[in-house]
Amino acid sequence: MQDDPLRLFRLDGRVALVTGASSGIGATLARGLAAAGASVVLAARRLERTEALATAIEADGGQALPMRLDVTDGAAIPPAFDAIERRFGTVDVVINNAGMADPALFLRTGMASLERTMTTNFTAPWQIAAEAARRMIAANRPGSIINLASVLALGAAPGYAAYSASKAALLQMTRTLALEFVRHRIRVNALAPGWFVSEMNAAYFASDKGKAYIQRMPPGRTGELHELVGPTLLLASEAGSYINGIVLPVDGAHHAALV
Ligand SMILES: NC(=O)c1ccc[n+]([C@@H]2O[C@H](COP(=O)([O-])OP(=O)(O)OC[C@H]3O[C@@H](n4cnc5c(N)ncnc54)[C@H](OP(=O)(O)O)[C@@H]3O)[C@@H](O)[C@H]2O)c1
Repeated sequence: MQDDPLRLFRLDGRVALVTGASSGIGATLARGLAAAGASVVLAARRLERTEALATAIEADGGQALPMRLDVTDGAAIPPAFDAIERRFGTVDVVINNAGMADPALFLRTGMASLERTMTTNFTAPWQIAAEAARRMIAANRPGSIINLASVLALGAAPGYAAYSASKAALLQMTRTLALEFVRHRIRVNALAPGWFVSEMNAAYFASDKGKAYIQRMPPGRTGELHELVGPTLLLASEAGSYINGIVLPVDGAHHAALV
């Protein structure tokens, strides 16, 4: 009898690090990965949030390690991986999700804002991918690194020069790492979400301007956070074993529109 193909999506025995797991997309993805069997590490600056999420995941029968981590603190990254290895072992799946946006028109974007955006959205995923890959290679284990880009890495919008550039840089990093790490059985892919209501944008989407924008978007609605779980499991698990170096838009066709 043929094996159940849904089994390929399971992550039992795997360790998944989710950055930015204290809210929004990261918290939802962490729950999804845990439900698929992974031991999840919940990294963010707000420890009380990740502790509460860990308690909820464990109440559902999963395994979770909350961890205070500022991803822009490069020196904190190797000790964070040491702590994960002490608790769960080598990280198999990385979800580089922590991110921020500080939208402003180009001529009103200060250097401090640009630097914070690039450090959080690009340099931090770079350093985390490097630390994870070094350890996967040393342990001779395959892995999957998933970078949260954005529809704004594929198209542009006024007010998002810094954010778009940071996410586009992340895409080119994704493709390069996929080529460099394929011989180590480490896959590197990106998700490009359209708009999902989260702390980052809730005030805007609640405004009249935001509601009008939603009506103009091709799907006519924002995404539901759970709609990112399936694509993430595909990229994280054996179900996606030959998918490498891609950017997967999850946006109800938003990226396909010219306007
Ligand atoms: N929502 C959307 O429509 C959308 C669309 C495309 C892409 N994205 C991307 O999806 C990712 C998640 O966004 P979201 O919508 O879920 O936003 P969110 O609810 O604002 O969550 C952002 C997360 O990133 C964490 N974070 C930010 N800076 C951090 C730092 N220096 N160190 C550690 N963690 C940090 C935050 O945790 P702490 O504050 O606790 O540290 C929080 O958990 C981001 O990369 C974002 O660019 C979102």
